[in-house]
Amino acid sequence: MNILAFETSCDETSVAVVKDGVNVLSCAIATSMNMHAQSGGIIPENAARKQIEYILPTIEKALSDAFPAIPLENRDALFQEIDAIAVTVGPGLIGSLLVGVETAKTLATLFNKPIIPVNHVVAHIYAAFLETEVPLFPFLALIVSGGHTDFVYAEKHGEYKLLGGTRDDAAGEAFDKCARIIGLGYPGGPAIAKAADTFMAEQPTNKMNLLPRPMMYQDTIEVSFSGLKTAVMRCTTQNDQSHQYSKEQLAAEVQNAIVDTLVEKLIKAADKRPVKSIIVCGGVSANLYLRKRLSALHLFESTKIKLHVPEIRYCTDNAAMIGSCAYFNKNFTEIASVSPNPELHF
Ligand code: KG4
Ligand code: ZN
Repeated sequence: MNILAFETSCDETSVAVVKDGVNVLSCAIATSMNMHAQSGGIIPENAARKQIEYILPTIEKALSDAFPAIPLENRDALFQEIDAIAVTVGPGLIGSLLVGVETAKTLATLFNKPIIPVNHVVAHIYAAFLETEVPLFPFLALIVSGGHTDFVYAEKHGEYKLLGGTRDDAAGEAFDKCARIIGLGYPGGPAIAKAADTFMAEQPTNKMNLLPRPMMYQDTIEVSFSGLKTAVMRCTTQNDQSHQYSKEQLAAEVQNAIVDTLVEKLIKAADKRPVKSIIVCGGVSANLYLRKRLSALHLFESTKIKLHVPEIRYCTDNAAMIGSCAYFNKNFTEIASVSPNPELHF
């Protein structure tokens, strides 16, 4: 079954063709990152305007990459290859969601295809099903993105139980906000990772205990990252007085504080219920230091639990994960009832 999938919940415009939920025939992504880097963050109206501009060329790229033998002008033949259309309906920015939803509904009507609305946060989990060994149930998923830090338990597709998450800022949000305070660019996650690498290569034995790890040792599966900003701000203020922390050192401290907390809480969450797989996904799972720490965990050596982290290109927002989520959940919906929901929950 080939699904044509759309993802436009935030600043990316992505269209993919996914076969049977696991094979990515194409995944085109147009990004307006440079524009947001100039403004230091996403301005929702600007993001949506760019998505309107990008959506048609991105569809064409996804279709021609998936079916190179069929000319783009032969739309009927191209859409004969498509069995269903999937689209992110939330959570996200309303203007951005509308671009994907209206485009998907138009194509579904025009070419008479069934449509499957998809929850973006749940879809991040399905990035771990793409082009690799499929995770087994029951699984524990840690979704770490710009808007979410969620620990989710699932016994089967469609039944996701939220075990815990952040009380305030999401992990990606903490990376982004701390990067801004330190004076590193947007998006903050990759900028912090790069600066942190430099510091850790120069001072591999540094203890990295400058910043707090709130709630880390409490026996809950909750995290709190908002205090990090204040602590980083305190360090940058101290820079004027007695201490001198470089940007690279602060970046390494931020990355360590976030990764320590995530890893510690993941071990706690895994202890709550027996699982066969642990999935770590979402934009922050692209972080190489986090990936290294996860793969070194004793948990995966001492038990049969298998770790699944998506390929880096499927960690951040992309339409392939939307196509996979739609395939495994097949929540076919009447076209007229599909609408964006910026506040969508599990
Ligand atoms: O999943 P995603 O692409 O979008 C949301 O659904 O939010 O995640 C974006 C977040 C941003 O906060 C970004 O800074 C973070 O993921 N991120 C990273 C890395 N790459 C992206 N954080 C840490 N290290 C990275 N390499
Ligand atoms: Zn996302």
